Amino acid sequence: MIVGLGTYLPKEVLTNDDIAEMMDTSDEWISSRTGVRSRHRASAEETTASMGAEAGKKAIEDAGLEPDDIDMIIMGTMFQDFTYPGPGMVIQQAIGITRTIPVIDIRVQCPAVIYGLSMADVYIRSGQAKHILIVMAEKEFEHFKVDRQIGVIFGDGGSAAVIGPAVGDRGVYVTDIQGDGAGVSDLVMTSDNMPGLARGEAVWPEVLRKCKAYWEERGFIPGHTKYPFWIGQEVFKNAVKRLIKSARAVINEIGWTFTDVQHFFFHQANGRINAKLAELLKLPISKVPSNIDRIGNTGAGSVLILMDEAKKAGNLKPGDICMLSAFGAGYLWGTALIKF
Ligand code: UT7
Repeated sequence: MIVGLGTYLPKEVLTNDDIAEMMDTSDEWISSRTGVRSRHRASAEETTASMGAEAGKKAIEDAGLEPDDIDMIIMGTMFQDFTYPGPGMVIQQAIGITRTIPVIDIRVQCPAVIYGLSMADVYIRSGQAKHILIVMAEKEFEHFKVDRQIGVIFGDGGSAAVIGPAVGDRGVYVTDIQGDGAGVSDLVMTSDNMPGLARGEAVWPEVLRKCKAYWEERGFIPGHTKYPFWIGQEVFKNAVKRLIKSARAVINEIGWTFTDVQHFFFHQANGRINAKLAELLKLPISKVPSNIDRIGNTGAGSVLILMDEAKKAGNLKPGDICMLSAFGAGYLWGTALIKF
């Protein structure tokens, strides 16, 4: 079960009007198409690992544990600070864990929180770990701001949860994690891990041809080596279609109905995606919390930030049934059903 939650958000807040000064967009377009009104931006000193570590410390404290009570770290991000090692190792040090423990960095983009929860559940059930810290953090704004379609949605931040053994009937009930590589070319970023690739000096894999054509048309940006690309509407449609199927699969597996669920903590990718999910699954919107207006899309970080907020506001209580779900690049996606 989730025994502790923590969040870290950088101080600086950028409104849509601030964004409109950086790229060709408007508050009206961003808020009506995405629901985002502001987002946080990490400073030069803040990193994926530093934000993740701060969130992790808070989650351990919230669980009433000490750093050395953690038996394993599972870290998810799209933007690790170094090519290697992953941020999980930096986080282990920054949190002050003095024991040697397994540290697993996972590269599964926005649904990393669901993958992390699913993995933690398996390790805990098998008895190989008692308390697992899952940490999700993204320093992504600076990479996405080169393209207005993507740059307006994302924000920076980190979140974490300590997962412990089930207590009574409180715990992780069902997780569904899925991937379909058919979506690779709809949502992709070339990076400086692949020297020369961005400017077409190296051979582009066939699957990246749409990304290459997109950036050739716009002209590559001098000094920039990360090129995001997505076909927004395809991603939108796939997110809705696949998350609905996944939500129904977990509900059917346990033999419940959606009315048995108190909270639907959906990834904050675009407010319209979640409105569509609520409409098609016939969920009262009051059960689908949202903070995308203030936080934007924080990638892997969003679901636990949302849960932490709900807990602090007194809306998420021990024993509440929650559905968590997220969709992202790959395509990869997942859903979890838990009793908090
Ligand atoms: O977190 C990972 C998963 N990601 C997602 O789930 C994202 C899913 N997709 C989306 O959220 C939406 O597709 C977007 C927000 C990315 C785009 O919204 P849309 O309603 O699908 O817009 P569009 O791409 O169809 O573009 C509509 C128009 C276009 O102009 P024309 O061709 O109609 O003249 C775009 O060029 O809006 C234009 N446009 C913009 N205008 C002002 C695109 N981005 C912007 C912008 N500001 N930032």
